[in-house]
Amino acid sequence: MANNYGIEGSHLFITGGAGFIGTTLALMLADDNTITLYDNLHNNALEHSPLREHPNITLVQGDILDPQALEKAMTDDVTHVIHCAAIAGVDTVVNAPLKTLQVNIQGTFNVFNAASKLKNLQRIVDFSTSEVFGQHAYNVSEFEISPTVTIGEGRWTYAISKLTGEFITHCYHVQHDMPTVTVRPFNIYGPNQVGVGAIHNFVTRAIKNEDLIIHDEGSQIRAWCYVDDFVDGVLRATVAPEAVGRSFNIGNPRSTLTTYNLAELIIRIAESSSGTTFKEMGFSDVALRIPNIQTAREVLGYEPKVELEEGLARTIAWYRIKLAAQAEGKPVPTTPVALNA
Ligand SMILES: NC(=O)c1ccc[n+]([C@@H]2O[C@H](COP(=O)([O-])OP(=O)(O)OC[C@H]3O[C@@H](n4cnc5c(N)ncnc54)[C@H](O)[C@@H]3O)[C@@H](O)[C@H]2O)c1
Repeated sequence: MANNYGIEGSHLFITGGAGFIGTTLALMLADDNTITLYDNLHNNALEHSPLREHPNITLVQGDILDPQALEKAMTDDVTHVIHCAAIAGVDTVVNAPLKTLQVNIQGTFNVFNAASKLKNLQRIVDFSTSEVFGQHAYNVSEFEISPTVTIGEGRWTYAISKLTGEFITHCYHVQHDMPTVTVRPFNIYGPNQVGVGAIHNFVTRAIKNEDLIIHDEGSQIRAWCYVDDFVDGVLRATVAPEAVGRSFNIGNPRSTLTTYNLAELIIRIAESSSGTTFKEMGFSDVALRIPNIQTAREVLGYEPKVELEEGLARTIAWYRIKLAAQAEGKPVPTTPVALNA
């Protein structure tokens, strides 16, 4: 599938490339680029995917905490580094706060240090998170970061580690003149998701007609962004000359609703007989998170296209195919990405 981003013939090195977003990026780019996916396979969206056999894709099993392995894998012909590898997902983070800090901070240092030695580097993209905005984030623009976090609460190690990653990225740009850019994903969902996440959990249960487990009252408000739209934003940030040295919110402010409404919507679209069960979360949550994407619109020409009901319908369809394939012991197809239609 030809992409329209003008990076054909490039060699892209994607850390965390076996994950949800890394796999979707690889799918988009593999036909006309060389792709190295560097991942310790903590998560693995490629495990049962035919994409693993693609002739332009090499999967290197390695850890970003291993600087020698990283430098060896990042060969001199690499032109673009996309740094997705991280410990993410609130449940994982709460259970492993020290590991989260180590991987997301030390690992990011290692990736930037290895990339700083590349002769042909055209862009390095750092993945941050919308969590850097803290507990109340309504219509937040790139510059409104003043997170109020409680030291000692495990969940905030993620936001702090990712914010530190943004500082690392910016410092490499300023001190080493590296062509950096940071993207901040706002609640991404869609086919190929392997980690934790509300839509992943809800859809998986809805198609089995099991109760959907809702944290607390389900009154948390989120803006959900379909993965194809997000990947479009990432690739625009990867090529736009004006993006260098900047951070961009990438999300879909139109697809906003409460977690309870989301559960009900998924049950309806999936034509499921699931009910809903409420469970106390046991740690602090983000009450409200909606991005302002004006900077991405103006600088990158980014505009999300897939609205929530359509994105959920596509996602539910993929999860059904995945379940059926797994039951028959067949490969799980990765979906074609329809962008710029
Ligand atoms: N999905 C979202 O909604 C979302 C929101 C905000 C930020 N992000 C960020 O986007 C990036 C990608 O997220 P994703 O949803 O694809 O998650 P994911 O868990 O599917 O992908 C992350 C990948 O990183 C790999 N990894 C973890 N630790 C590693 C290590 N030490 N060395 C090498 N590989 C390692 C995992 O095996 C996994 O495949 C992450 O940086 C995440 O923090 C995602």
